[in-house]
Amino acid sequence: MNRSGDIKRTASPSDSHHRRSFLSSIGAVLFGSVAAVFPLAAGWGVLVDPLRRQRPEKAGGHGAVADPKFVRVGLLAMLPDDGLPRQFAVMEDSVDAWTRIPGQRVGTMFLCRTTSDKGPVVTAFSSTCPHLGCAVDFNAAANQFECPCHKSAFAKDGDKLYGPTLRGLDPLPVKLVDSNGQQEIWVAYERFRTGVAERIPLA
Ligand code: FES
Repeated sequence: MNRSGDIKRTASPSDSHHRRSFLSSIGAVLFGSVAAVFPLAAGWGVLVDPLRRQRPEKAGGHGAVADPKFVRVGLLAMLPDDGLPRQFAVMEDSVDAWTRIPGQRVGTMFLCRTTSDKGPVVTAFSSTCPHLGCAVDFNAAANQFECPCHKSAFAKDGDKLYGPTLRGLDPLPVKLVDSNGQQEIWVAYERFRTGVAERIPLA
């Protein structure tokens, strides 16, 4: 894979098959999402998935998904294990007493995959700057996350490097779940209060 993180240009035939299956399963909502998220990519290949609240048909591997806050991102195979963060849109259906509006973007996050002696490891961070809520981006040349608003910067592990932010990036819980012989990435997306040192989830 090159430094641009472009999945299409680097995926293996197997990866491509998985990715085609993944894309075909998410339908028209995906294509509506691409246009909305692409400007956030800022030079990165962006994988976009309408994250739907759903339970896996078969849970196992690294653990079942019992917490309803977890949403399915997609197949682990679509995320290269090069340790580079990639940005995903978080899409949810908006539901009230009268209407259900599918595929509303509620935020973005970064996923990063590495490999340990125990197997694949995926970490996730909200891309919302914990200072005052701007969208951070990953600067591949500097190997760090950066916020354009007030110049806060964060290491790849989310720790604060410099700037006015009072804490590091907000990590998001990740589960890898076996489903039909493949591993899926599930993430519990949350928003947190900005401008404070403590990590306080918003209701
Ligand atoms: Fe990111 Fe201020 S909002 S540094």
